[in-house]
Amino acid sequence: MSADETMLALARTMMQRAYAPYSNYHVGAVVRGANGKLYGGCNVENASFPAGACAEASAISVMVADGETRISEVLVMAAGQELVSPCGSCRQRLREFAQPDTPVHMASPEGVKKTVSFGELLPLAFNHGHVAGKG
Ligand code: THU
Repeated sequence: MSADETMLALARTMMQRAYAPYSNYHVGAVVRGANGKLYGGCNVENASFPAGACAEASAISVMVADGETRISEVLVMAAGQELVSPCGSCRQRLREFAQPDTPVHMASPEGVKKTVSFGELLPLAFNHGHVAGKG
């Protein structure tokens, strides 16, 4: 599955709205809910660095607040030479709502650079089943 132009456009807007005065690394993230709707978020940094939020976490919060808890597609966008890739904590956050076959697009403002399945990003993931003792 390739990201559509609407998803890319929302990610660009999110990236522009990032509050990242400390790292100057602006990230936009978009998740598509199973309901088909797109939810965007950006990174929001803080003078107390650990209190900052990643773009993916912001997008997930917007989705859940809208009543959706299933992710069918993910896009993360940042500028720069290095391909942006969801951080370890965000992979776990995404796992709560995504499936191993959910596409994850990594993009620059120009477009998608690489698409992988979520399972490639976080194999052998810890999930709900472990907590329920069903492993
Ligand atoms: N960041 C994200 O928003 N998502 C990621 O997956 C990687 C890192 C943000 C956090 C921080 O505001 C900045 O990028 C530099 O680490």
